[in-house]
Amino acid sequence: MATWSAPGKVFLFGEHAVVYGKPGIALAIRPRVYVTVRKTSHAHHAKSPYIDQCFKELNVKGSVYINSQLPSSSGLGSSAAVTVATLAAINDEFGLGKTRDQIAELAFKIEKRVQKGRASPTDTTVSTYGGMFLIKEGTRKRLAPQNYHLVVGNSQATHSTARMVEKVADLKGKYPTICEPVLNAIEAITLDAMKHLDEPQYLGRLMDMNHALLDVLGVGHPHLSRLVLAARATGAYGAKITGAGGGGCMVALAPKNLKARIAGALEVTEGRALITCLDTEGLRKE
Ligand code: MEV
Repeated sequence: MATWSAPGKVFLFGEHAVVYGKPGIALAIRPRVYVTVRKTSHAHHAKSPYIDQCFKELNVKGSVYINSQLPSSSGLGSSAAVTVATLAAINDEFGLGKTRDQIAELAFKIEKRVQKGRASPTDTTVSTYGGMFLIKEGTRKRLAPQNYHLVVGNSQATHSTARMVEKVADLKGKYPTICEPVLNAIEAITLDAMKHLDEPQYLGRLMDMNHALLDVLGVGHPHLSRLVLAARATGAYGAKITGAGGGGCMVALAPKNLKARIAGALEVTEGRALITCLDTEGLRKE
C-alpha cells in the first residue's frame, strides 16, 4: 500500500491569459489531496476519469482511496492534485521508478486529455513541485517563496474550466481589438508583479486590476463579485477571481492580523472561506 499527497493551487495573476501564451503567477496552497493505492489483481473502481487515466497510462491494476481537503471543481486545482498524487502512489506501490519530472509531465498529459485539450501545465506543475512559479508557454521559473496570508472564498457556484476557456475564446473572436489589449494588460500586471513579489500592498492593487480585467473577459460571477468586495471592505490588500471564474473561487491577499476577519466576512457573504498560505513541499510521501 502507498499513500502520497499533493497540494492545491491558486493563480495570483494571469489565468486565462496563460492560455494565449502570456505569463502567469501561481502558487501551491496548504490544503492537500491524499491518495492511497493498493496492488490488486482486479481492476480498481475509478472514481474519476483522472484516476482512470492514471492506471491506464501506467498500465497497472489496483484499488484507490482518496481523502481530499480540497473542494473539487472550484478552481483550486483539485483534479491536478488528484492526478499527481495518484501517479506518485501507483509509481511507489508498483516500483515503476518514475521521476518527479516524469510524473509532472504525465499528469499534464492526462489533464489535457480529460479536459479535451483545454489545460495549461500550471496546475500540475505547481501541485508536483510546490512553491510559487512564473509559468509561460510550457516553461516554468521557480520564484522565491513568500510568506503571503491568503484567504480563499469559494462561491460554491459550479463552473467548468473548459467552458470558461471557450467563453473567453468566443469573446476574443468577436471583439479582438478589445480583448487583445485586455490580455496584454493582464500580462503587464503579471510582469509588474514580478518586480514587487515581497510587497503585498502593491500586489493587492495589481490583484484588484487583474480582477477587473477578468470581469471584462466575461468570467465574472455575481457571487464572486460580492466575495471580492467583502474581502476588500474588511481590509484585504487586494482580491480577485482565481482560476477559471464563472463560479469557483476568489483569493484575497491579507494583512496577517485581518485574515480571520476577512474569512468571517466571506462566510457571511455566503461563501466558504479558507485561510491558507504557500505550500513549499509539493508532492509528498505519507
Ligand atoms: C484555470 O485554473 C486557469 C485557466 O487559465 C486555464 C488553465 O490555465 O489551464 C483558465
